[in-house]
This record gives sequence, structure tokens and C-alpha cells, in this order.
Amino acid sequence: MSTPSVPFPDPLARLQSAKAAGRRLATLTAYDYPTARLIDEAGIDLILVGDSLGMVFAGLPDTTGVTMDHMLYHTTVVARAVTRAALVADLPYRSYDSPAEAVRHGRSLIAAGAHAVKLEGGREQLPQLLALRDAGIPAVGHIGMLPQHVLEEGGYKKKGKTPPEAERLIDSARAVESAGVAAIVLESIVPAVATHITEVLTIPTIGIGSGDHCDGQIRVIHDVIGAFPWFVPPFARPAADIAGEIRRAVAAYRDSVTGDSA
Ligand code: KIV
Repeated sequence: MSTPSVPFPDPLARLQSAKAAGRRLATLTAYDYPTARLIDEAGIDLILVGDSLGMVFAGLPDTTGVTMDHMLYHTTVVARAVTRAALVADLPYRSYDSPAEAVRHGRSLIAAGAHAVKLEGGREQLPQLLALRDAGIPAVGHIGMLPQHVLEEGGYKKKGKTPPEAERLIDSARAVESAGVAAIVLESIVPAVATHITEVLTIPTIGIGSGDHCDGQIRVIHDVIGAFPWFVPPFARPAADIAGEIRRAVAAYRDSVTGDSA
């Protein structure tokens, strides 16, 4: 059992008590003020300023083009809106190549308003996670499919399909927990393996594409509201059609100005 040595601010501590109470965590990404404010007002437990913003906000092909400047800007904007949820910001690609860099960039994101920073990787990131802990910077882990490695891996692949890979994931989950993180994201992990990890850890697991038995779920907000129609992940269940509404409203506006009807 891990004992966090970083004193967690209340919104992060609430994640731990939710797991203890058996309450599932509903968490989402946000990158702008109005969306973050609406999500916060809706009572979502955790808001992630994810580096997925590179794709769904900035139109990049993957997250590897996201920089610290991007993350600092969006974290500042989202922090202005959030009064209740735990606010977590991603450390972007290559910003935590060493423990010292993880701490320097982690500090900047906390100064921009994040309660915690998230970084991708398992046991191999232990030095960075321990450095963050020792610097008093709360962290969230992220194992399984790591979007920042998509180019090396040649695509987005499910993790934990073979017994050795499942063992590696379980070992990584334990290593990340031992660094005192507040929670861990499990991305695209075979559901049975994600369920096992959820059972053996005391920190909350937050799943995406990893089945229904994690302690919570995270989704990219665009996938929930149907705001990025050009790519919809297989596990996304859009509950609205914002793209359709924008197209309808823009066409109605266009016609009202031009006098045409499409
Ligand atoms: O960048 C992101 O949005 C993420 C989540 C999908 C977990 O890391």
C-alpha cells in the first residue's frame, strides 16, 4: 500500500476517498474556458488539460507536436474556470526526459493553476515520478497505450494481450503507485488486465478504452459531445452532436445573410 508523501490539495484527496467509498470517478478533458466551466459546474471530478489538445484543438496529427508553451497557455485558461474539480495538466512530449526537467516543467504547470501533472510511462518513469514527489509536485500516472509514443510504435495498439505484457503493465502500475501518485490512467489495456490492476492498487485507476471496471473513466470532451466528427475512437459514445449543431447554425446564419437556402 502506498502512502503519498505529497500533501494532496482537497480536489485530489477527494479522488482517493472516492475509491475508498466505492464511488466511480467521471473525468473529462478540457482546453478552453467555457467548456471547462461547464464541465466543472456539472460536477465532474477531474478535468485534464490533456495534450490531446494537439489533435482535437490544434489539428495536429498526434500529440508529439505539443509544447510546454501550449500546455501552459491552456492550463492557465482552464484554471480560470475551475473551482471544484481536480485540475491535472499533461507534461508534453520530451518535457520530462530527465527528473530535473520533469520537476522544472511540473512546477511551471502547477504555477499555471494545475493541482497535479500527468506523465506517460510506467516503471521507466520512476525517477521522474520520485523527483516530482520529492519536489512536492502531485502527479498522475499513465500506462498502457502511450499516445506520445505513437510514432515509435507505428500506431495506437491495445496493451496487455500477452501474459508477459500483462505482467509488465501490472509491475508498472505498482511502480507508479509506489511513487505516491494521486491516480493512474489506464489507456487501451485489455479489460481483464485493467480490472486486475484496479483490484491490486489502492489509488484510483481511470480508464479509457480499458473496459468498465476501472475506478473511473476519462474521455476527451470532443468524443462525448460529438465535436470532432473526423475521428471518433471506437469506445466513444457521443451523447450530443455539437458538430451537427454548428453546421446547422452556420448554414442558417449564412442563408440569413445571403438570402440563399442551401
Ligand atoms: O491527452 C489526453 O487527453 C489524455 C487522456 C485521453 C487520458 O491523456
